Formats: sequence, C-alpha cells, structure tokens
Amino acid sequence: MNRPIYLALDFKNWQETELFLVKYQLDQVAVKVGMELFYREGPDVVKRLRDRGHEVFLDIKLHDIPTTIYKAMKNIAKLDVALTNVHGLGGGEMIQAAKAGLLDGANGSNIPDLLAVTLLTSIQEEVLKQELKIQSSVEETVVHLAKLAQDNGADGVVCSAHEVKALKAVCGDQFLAVTPGIRLLNSHSNDQKRVATPSLAKRNGADALVIGRSITLADHPKKAYLTAKEEWNA
Ligand code: C5P
Repeated sequence: MNRPIYLALDFKNWQETELFLVKYQLDQVAVKVGMELFYREGPDVVKRLRDRGHEVFLDIKLHDIPTTIYKAMKNIAKLDVALTNVHGLGGGEMIQAAKAGLLDGANGSNIPDLLAVTLLTSIQEEVLKQELKIQSSVEETVVHLAKLAQDNGADGVVCSAHEVKALKAVCGDQFLAVTPGIRLLNSHSNDQKRVATPSLAKRNGADALVIGRSITLADHPKKAYLTAKEEWNA
C-alpha cells in the first residue's frame, strides 16, 4: 500500500463509476471498491479498474467463520488488490484465517495487505454502550481490536483519525492505520460520526485516507481530490 488517498467509488454500477473517473480525469488514482459496487458488478470491476491503472482497496469487510473466511480470502488474493479487510470483531482465529487465505491464494506474489475494521466510523460511544453493550470507550475498544488484529497477523486497521495516535502507541508505527470518516472543510458529515479533516488525520499519524462523498458529491470533484492531497502533503 503506498497511496495517501483511496477514493471511495460508492456508485451504483460500472457505467456511473467509469463516467465519473473519466469526466473528472481521476486517472490512475488509488480507489476503494465497497459493497455497493462489488455486489453489483462482481470481481470484474476490480479487473477493469486495474486495467485502467488504479490501485484497488477491496473493502468488503468480511465477517464469518474462519474456514469460510480462509476460502474467500484465497479467492480475493487472485484479484490483484493492494488491500482488503475483515471485521476485527470476528476474532483472532478469523483474522489468522484471513491472512492464511491471502498468503495461500496469492502464491507468493502480490499479497494484499490485510486490514481489520475496528469500529465503524459511523458508531459513537452511546451506540457502543447502549446497543452493543460494550462498556469500554471508543478509543479503548479500537486500540484493543487493533492489538488483537496485529497479534493475529493483520497488517493494519481501519479506524477513525481520532484513534490513530493511541493505537500507534500500542501497535507501533509500522502497523497501518487507514482512516475513513474524512471530511473536507464545509462538507456534510452525512451518516459519519467520528469525522476528521485530512490534515488532522495526517497529524495523528494515519497512513492513508479513505474519502468518498467529500469528493464524489463536491461541485468540483477533481478540485476536492487535489485539495485533500495538498492538505495531506502540506
Ligand atoms: O462518503 P464517505 O467518505 O463517508 O465514505 C467512506 C467510505 O469508507 C464508505 O465507502 C464506507 O463504506 C467506508 N468505510 C467507513 N468506515 C469504516 C470502514 C469503511 O466509512 N470503518
């Protein structure tokens, strides 16, 4: 993984995706394919993006029994993606199975990095306590899940920018922190709760950003993309 920004391609199909990338000349930018596009277009969408020169983060957040995860990851490893993920809440054995699937499926070449989603950036402390009955704070829960992921072979985590410092203090700088919930100044937070700007994420030590609607719904998406990149590089 080497790009600072993964553009979330949350579009309803390939036609809309391609139109957007071409119209705004977002050639060869690193992209994130999530459930909406993947479940519509299937693995072929990854091939089309790779053929156009985009590095791909396949964000389908797997969460199942270890055997199923192992077999699914073996297949994902053949798609030539740079990153993919599971939910950390699936537990250590599941994370190990995911890693093993990627290693066995990739057969020694282009092994995708494995990230574990800690807590979704749309979740706030009240939800954690009242709905999920987790009594630890958001930060403690994220750091705990990050350590669990690291101990079981993940290369990093997906978390909000607000927890990066705390988890790097425990897991070290080499352990990747990829942060969604990124908003450019003046853009709407939508369903996201633990949001941050690109510069705050960078200051806190994030390795890469995931940005969707702040770019895709902007009046000038290319300008928004470049602004985020400038903020990151500043
Ligand atoms: O539009 P926005 O920038 O909020 O998009 C964020 C993207 O990152 C979405 O595709 C969402 O599925 C994904 N994501 C997230 N929170 C996570 C993991 C992934 O928002 N914890």
